[in-house]
Amino acid sequence: MKILGIETSCDETACAIVEDGRKVLSNVIASQVDIHAKTGGVVPEVAAREHVLKMLPVLDECLSKADCGWDDIDALAITRGPGLVSSLIIGTETANVISYVKNKPLIPVHHIVGHIYSNWLLDPPKDGENPELYSSEPQFPLVILTVSGGHNEIILMKDHNDFEVLGETRDDAAGEAFDKVARLLGLGYPGGPAISRIAEDGDPDRFSFPIVLLEKDSFDFSFSGLKTAVLTEVKKHEGKMTEKLKSDLAASFQMTVVKTMAIKLARVVEKFPHVKEVHLAGGVSANRKLREIIRDYIPGGIYLRYPQTIIYCTDNAAMIAGAAYFLYQQDPARFKPRTNIVPTTSFELW
Ligand code: KG4
Ligand code: ZN
Repeated sequence: MKILGIETSCDETACAIVEDGRKVLSNVIASQVDIHAKTGGVVPEVAAREHVLKMLPVLDECLSKADCGWDDIDALAITRGPGLVSSLIIGTETANVISYVKNKPLIPVHHIVGHIYSNWLLDPPKDGENPELYSSEPQFPLVILTVSGGHNEIILMKDHNDFEVLGETRDDAAGEAFDKVARLLGLGYPGGPAISRIAEDGDPDRFSFPIVLLEKDSFDFSFSGLKTAVLTEVKKHEGKMTEKLKSDLAASFQMTVVKTMAIKLARVVEKFPHVKEVHLAGGVSANRKLREIIRDYIPGGIYLRYPQTIIYCTDNAAMIAGAAYFLYQQDPARFKPRTNIVPTTSFELW
């Protein structure tokens, strides 16, 4: 079954075609990062106008890269939310119109569920590669850390589309903290990659920022205190900030975020000993340190999985098409052509 997915929840205009929930036939993303770098963050109105300009060219490219015509597409998938409403609406209206005109079932997908299913995505094996490498199927029950700019959760997944949110952020998401600290250090947008780059040369032990674990049995996060602690250090060194100091601040900040998440995941795995895999998803899951430290904190017998390529960590439409397949399999009759999908900003998993 070939599903064409559309994702416009924030600042990427993205379309992809995925077969049977896993095999990515095409994945096209028009990034607006250069535009938003100038303002140090996403301006919703600017993002929406860019989506209008990019939507149809990205759709055309997605079909032609997969060598597909509309007759080859079995269903459409669309990010319904959460996200910026003015951005989401460009995608939902495009999907509504195509569903109406081409008479295709339309599957609304929760953005976070999309990120979860990024761990199922597979690029077709390249020349000479063993196709079996690509066949490993995630095993339930599993625990997912979704960590990006707008959200941060720990989710227990017992089966397809069976999610229990164990914890979430009470203030900033980790990606948001990366972006804000990057701004304090005068680094560009997006902050995550910039921080992790300069952290490579930094000393993670130079500053001991607080690891906030909240109540003993809580799997929630809070990163706003950490951001303030970095701000306090930056102010102390005003006028005498060196490259070395910046790297040390970045490395110490990054290590604090990463250890906080690793400790929480280790606690989840202890509480749910039947968990077979730990998954990382979302923009921050591209972070090398995060992967490394989490591997150290969870027992060796547990499979640590993160998206096959960095493109599937950050926002993309392949994850939306992938998630839609597993939803559709559960109850195909639920998804009809000519349904009018309206965006939502609710984080509640539906
Ligand atoms: O999933 P995503 O593309 O968008 C949201 O749904 O929010 O995540 C974007 C976030 C940004 O905050 C960005 O700074 C962060 O992911 N990010 C990283 C890295 N790459 C992207 N954070 C830490 N390390 C990275 N290597
Ligand atoms: Zn996202």
